[in-house]
Amino acid sequence: MSQFLIAPSILSADFARLGDDVARVLDAGADVVHFDVMDNHYVPNLTFGPMVCQALRAYGITAPIDVHLMVKPVDSLIPEFAKAGASIITFHPEASEHIDRSLALIKENGCEAGLVFNPATPLHYLDYVMDKVDQILLMSVNPGFGGQSFIPNTLDKLRQVRERIDASGRPIRLEVDGGVKVDNIAEIAAAGADMFVAGSAIFSQPDYKQVIDAMRAELAK
Ligand code: DX5
Ligand code: ZN
Repeated sequence: MSQFLIAPSILSADFARLGDDVARVLDAGADVVHFDVMDNHYVPNLTFGPMVCQALRAYGITAPIDVHLMVKPVDSLIPEFAKAGASIITFHPEASEHIDRSLALIKENGCEAGLVFNPATPLHYLDYVMDKVDQILLMSVNPGFGGQSFIPNTLDKLRQVRERIDASGRPIRLEVDGGVKVDNIAEIAAAGADMFVAGSAIFSQPDYKQVIDAMRAELAK
């Protein structure tokens, strides 16, 4: 995997041909599959669960699967997703009763662990767990739907998290999710992100490779 990771959100994929569409976006150069789990409780939308993750593995998808849990409660789904083939599991700290325990549960189940921050969620949830996270995900839209616009003050929040990661000395990935496009990915990277979720920007276009190549060209500038 390169220094910058492109993680297409399959929320915008063709659900009727999901295996093919995921294989196609990986062939086009994506690094990671971003898997948005919504429960119609923590967020006002409903998507897919561990069975679909398992089905993608059975279909032959071998790329890392980045499971973004937008669910409440959190813990019961962690072993289920680990068994289903998740590589990374992230959750929203305010949706967990015991953040440290949820992070430990993810690790015990053999996955990498991360916290997700909504646009208005404060960063203090990181204070006592910087040594326990492999990834930090900043939402640049309010969670629940694809196709929304990037919220500009995420850039400032990214810079704050980048400073905290650098100060920790740990190789924590900094992921951004929501409204990422070819025309803003460079400034998002400049603010400190190194992992980019993009749903509608990629899946709305006929040629996924063209979009991913254009994103990489922006990142190389
Ligand atoms: C939103 C999801 C995102 C979403 C991003 O709650 O977490 O992953 O699919 O979609 P775009 O890239 O279209 O903003
Ligand atoms: Zn997501």
